[in-house]
Amino acid sequence: MTEPLLPFGVLAELTYACPLHCAYCSNPLDLARYGDELTTAQWLRVLAEARELGTLQAHFSGGEPLLRRDIVEIVRGAHDLGMYTNLVTSGLGLSPLRAEKLRAAGLDHVQISIQDWEAAASDRIAGLRSFERKIAAAVLVRRLGWPLTVNVVLHRQNIGNVAEIIALAERLGADRVELANTQYYGWAWRNRQALLPSREQLASAEAIVREARQRLEGRMELIYVLPDYYGDQPKPCMGGWGRRLLAVAPNGDVLPCLAAHQLPLPRASVRERSLEWIWRDSPLFQAFRGTDWMPEPCRSCDRRELDFGGCRCQAFQLTGDATRADPVCHLSPDHGIVLAAVSAANDPSRPGAARTTPRPHPGRPG
Ligand code: SF4
Ligand code: FES
Repeated sequence: MTEPLLPFGVLAELTYACPLHCAYCSNPLDLARYGDELTTAQWLRVLAEARELGTLQAHFSGGEPLLRRDIVEIVRGAHDLGMYTNLVTSGLGLSPLRAEKLRAAGLDHVQISIQDWEAAASDRIAGLRSFERKIAAAVLVRRLGWPLTVNVVLHRQNIGNVAEIIALAERLGADRVELANTQYYGWAWRNRQALLPSREQLASAEAIVREARQRLEGRMELIYVLPDYYGDQPKPCMGGWGRRLLAVAPNGDVLPCLAAHQLPLPRASVRERSLEWIWRDSPLFQAFRGTDWMPEPCRSCDRRELDFGGCRCQAFQLTGDATRADPVCHLSPDHGIVLAAVSAANDPSRPGAARTTPRPHPGRPG
C-alpha cells in the first residue's frame, strides 16, 4: 500500500438538521444516529487536526450549517488556522446580521442551493416556501462582496428549465453556477424513478449548457456534473477513496465520501481517534485506497489509476457488494442494472413528474 496523499479539503457536515425536504437529499436515511452532534470545542479540534494534516480548505455543510448557533465561531476557528472557508447553505437563516458576523469571522465563499428558477417550482421541490429567502440571501452575499456559487441539483423535474436557471444565476451576479445531476444515494436512491431524466431531456440540457458556457466565458463559470447513469465510464468518485478529501459527519464519524455511512465497513470517529490515524491507518480509509483491493475487470484495466474503479457506494447500492466495479462502467458484469434503469427512464409511457417521497425533518438535538 502506497503512502496516502494528504487531504486538501475537509467537508464538515455540521448538522443534518435542515428546514428543506428535498427528495434528492444524499444525507443518511437513519438520521437518529446523528443527533449527538459534536460540540464547538470538538469541531475546533477536528479543524486543527485537519490543518495539521495539511488540509487547506474547510467546507461547512449539512443539512443546513446555519442551524448551528456556533457557526460563526467554527468559521473563525478555521479562518484563524489559515484555511479557505466555504459555506454550503440553502440561504435560509442568513440574516444581514449573521452575514456581517460571518464576514468578520473570515468566511471566504458562499454556495447557495436553489431548487429551480422560479418560486413555485423551487418551493415545490424544496417542500417549503423558501425561494424568495434564497434570492434575498444571494443578493446579500453579493452585496457583502463574497464570491457566490449557485448550486442546482438537476433531475427529471427541473432539467427542462436549465436555460432559465442559468439566466437566474446571471441576474444574481453569481461567479459560478454548479449544475449537478442527481447522485443516487440516500433519499435520491429511494426516489430514483421519479428523478432520473430521459435521454432527450439530457441532450437538450447539454446543448443549452454548451452554448451558455461559450457566451459566459470569463464572466461566470459553469460547472455541469454529468449524470453517472448515462456515461459508460465511471467518474473517479471523490478523486479516489481516501486520496484528497475527507468528510466529518455531525456525530464525529469520519468518511471518505458523503455516502460511505451505508457501507458495511468499520466506523472511524474523531471522538475515539485522531484525524491523522483515521486518515492514514483506519481500516475504513484503507478499505478502497489505491488499486490493491480491486477485483477484475478493474485489476487489469488501464483506467484503474484514473477512475479507481468508480464509486464504491454506487457499486454497493446497485449490487450489494462495494468491491465490484462501478456498474456504470461498460466493462462491469453488472452494467445491465444501469442500462435497465436508463431504459425505464426513457419509457415513453412514463409520466414527466412522478411523485417523490420528501425527506422528512430530522429532529434537532436539544
Ligand atoms: Fe474503471 Fe474498473 Fe471500468 Fe476499468 S473496469 S474503466 S477501472 S470501473
Ligand atoms: Fe462513496 Fe462514491 S459516494 S465512493
